[in-house]
Amino acid sequence: MSKLRDIQNKFHNELTSIYSKEEIDTFFFMLTESYYNKNRLQLAMNFEAKIENPQAIMSALELLKNEQPIQYILGETEFYGIPFKVNRHVLIPRPETEELVDWIIDEFKNQSSELKVLDIGTGSGCIAISLSKNLPNTKVYALDVSKEALIVAKHNAELNKVEVEFIEDSILNPSDAELVSVSQKFDIIVSNPPYVRMKEKQLMKGNVLDNEPHLALFVEDNNPLLFYRAICEVAQKNLKDRGVLYCEINEYLGKDMLQLLKDYNFKRVELKQDIFNKDRMIKGVLSI
Ligand SMILES: C[S@@+](CC[C@H](N)C(=O)[O-])C[C@H]1O[C@@H](n2cnc3c(N)ncnc32)[C@H](O)[C@@H]1O
Repeated sequence: MSKLRDIQNKFHNELTSIYSKEEIDTFFFMLTESYYNKNRLQLAMNFEAKIENPQAIMSALELLKNEQPIQYILGETEFYGIPFKVNRHVLIPRPETEELVDWIIDEFKNQSSELKVLDIGTGSGCIAISLSKNLPNTKVYALDVSKEALIVAKHNAELNKVEVEFIEDSILNPSDAELVSVSQKFDIIVSNPPYVRMKEKQLMKGNVLDNEPHLALFVEDNNPLLFYRAICEVAQKNLKDRGVLYCEINEYLGKDMLQLLKDYNFKRVELKQDIFNKDRMIKGVLSI
């Protein structure tokens, strides 16, 4: 048996060269809550408590030393206030994607007729599931090329008690049959596709580069809008007249994205900044 205080001290001694004091405490409390059901307040009242099975938290310490993201160690995270399982086959949902979801919910929350939504590149299912949860009367479809990601996304739909129709397909070579089988067209198509250029790799933190799926992140430097072009093609065929396309975008490609949506005949195109004032989201209304 080991005292929690001793373990916390060990965390600080061994992680201090990699993380700040606050980050180390946050990881420690997230782990004690998840593994031993003891929250921060309970621990503050009894730091001399002993735990019976310290191996679990010690293994987590080793993974943190290797800069593995805490979300993968715990196997879960939160997005838009609800829980999501994550593993190495899915991108860890980001706060900027919550802003995209928030934009859509804000614009459609008062809609009373049924909405059909397609999420392209669903990963953990975070966009599809949070939209389904927060927009009543919505039928959500979610597509990804990764079988492994879809397993996680399906699990998350069950976890959050929503029905989402999952489609395994590549947006770069979509089988029309899959989408046409969705008998009516979509009111909303949303996507957070891979958008980080290879040359931007050096700006990224080691724990993202070494752990998160490259399939979810990167595009070639010479064709950074590859996925957005494919999404616009699919949107032109599968959005209703006046249906809306929403995308998360690379902060350096806002102007190119504005032009792309205009080239594809989208109207009322709007670029939106995230809380850090970076061009991060775009929307356009299809006019046939
Ligand atoms: C940036 S991640 C976004 C994941 C999730 N929607 C989110 O916001 O956290 C991009 C997703 O696109 C998927 N993807 C990559 N290439 C694809 C393709 N050709 N067709 C469909 N999905 C693809 C990846 O598997 C990954 O799940």
